[in-house]
Amino acid sequence: GTIKATELSKLGVTMYDPGYMNTASATSRICYIDGDKGILTYRGYPIEQLAESSNFLEVAFLLINGSLPSKPQYDTWKKHIMTHTFIHENLISLMQNFRYDAHPMGMLVSSMAALATFYPEANPALRGEGVYKQKLLRNKQIYRIIGKITTIAACAYRHRIGRPYNQPSDQLDFTANFLYMLDHLSEKSFTPHPKLVHALDVLFILHADHEMNCSTAAVRHVASAGTDPYTAIAAAASALYGPLHGGANEAVLHMLEDIGTVDRIPQFIQDVKDRKKKLMGFGHRVYKNYDPRAKIISRVAYEVFDVVGREPLIEVATALEQIALKDEYFVSRKLYPNVDFYSGLIYKAMGFPTDMFPVLFAIPRTVGWLAHWLELQDDPELRIVRPKQVYSGHQTRDYVPMASRE
Ligand code: ACO
Repeated sequence: GTIKATELSKLGVTMYDPGYMNTASATSRICYIDGDKGILTYRGYPIEQLAESSNFLEVAFLLINGSLPSKPQYDTWKKHIMTHTFIHENLISLMQNFRYDAHPMGMLVSSMAALATFYPEANPALRGEGVYKQKLLRNKQIYRIIGKITTIAACAYRHRIGRPYNQPSDQLDFTANFLYMLDHLSEKSFTPHPKLVHALDVLFILHADHEMNCSTAAVRHVASAGTDPYTAIAAAASALYGPLHGGANEAVLHMLEDIGTVDRIPQFIQDVKDRKKKLMGFGHRVYKNYDPRAKIISRVAYEVFDVVGREPLIEVATALEQIALKDEYFVSRKLYPNVDFYSGLIYKAMGFPTDMFPVLFAIPRTVGWLAHWLELQDDPELRIVRPKQVYSGHQTRDYVPMASRE
């Protein structure tokens, strides 16, 4: 059941809930998870069906607008987004001035925040204008943000490897254009391999939303103050930058590298049982069953290996998964592989450096953040987010002049 916190406060009761383990901060119609059954749906559509039959831009339309697009709707949507992939020359200059070794996620966070200064109409007008103009304005920011996020990500990557930035191509699809701008995974120059494009597109679908996770809660928190979407999304990306949120796939990779070979798995499992180590990529706060995204992602891994060659650590990963799934320690605690168990291996096999992993998460999750940002604009129950605290500091005391302090 659900109790309204306002009812509790009428009784003089305050919920103390660090980490919001049992506090719902909004009603939402975007994403549903049943962690016991291992179900994930976007707007009611199972993630398996979307990964199998849809593409990332269609899923983006679905998450943001609530229904699947007709063909003309899809074509218009795609055209709007792809024409907004170009970024202002001054933003390029700004990005060029980061240190040569700047973390690409730091560049993404700052560049997204900087975009707010390029589009000042995005702030008060989104609330104050009539419904028609408001809708146009909101849509425009959505096209811009989805369009520009891949360009910013690609520029951050190019900066990191010390190469000039590439212009987007609005003749390509969304994900193909991203790989095109990176220009490092091509079969021949400037031609991203269609199988890699498809694999990354599926990964983007799987990461597009996951209801009230840390970064989505952040975008809602900041936007509740009426902040523009660029700044609010920069805040969400900042949350994703944290290793506990966007960095788990990198930790999986390091774990697999440490284990190294299949014969060393039993010793590793023993270390986990002795609580010396953690099996990274296993377990989830919400899923107490197989993370449905992990099942899809393991298939994608093999599609990628068909093109770029087998990543040797996959043997360790699959053997580790099989052993853990049969082991009483993991079975009794309902610990199953989560989405991060395979995603890092795929990114590595595709040639991405590890510091690009959170960026590859941020690109699709931007769509989820925008869907939540849009939803809250019209939420009649929206209030500025302002949690309570339980004060545990000093009682009131008198100021002591410095000369008289002990
Ligand atoms: N390896 C070994 N033991 C584990 C693991 C793990 N990965 N995860 C949980 N456990 C154990 C705990 O030690 C605990 O055992 P105990 O009851 O004997 O003390 C039991 O399982 C329950 O675990 P909790 O920590 O209570 O579960 P919680 O919901 O708080 O944590 C979390 C979930 C943080 C994801 C945890 O499973 C974990 O650290 N996993 C590894 C990191 C990881 O893969 N994170 C990515 C999550 S997906 C994402 O963010 C996109």
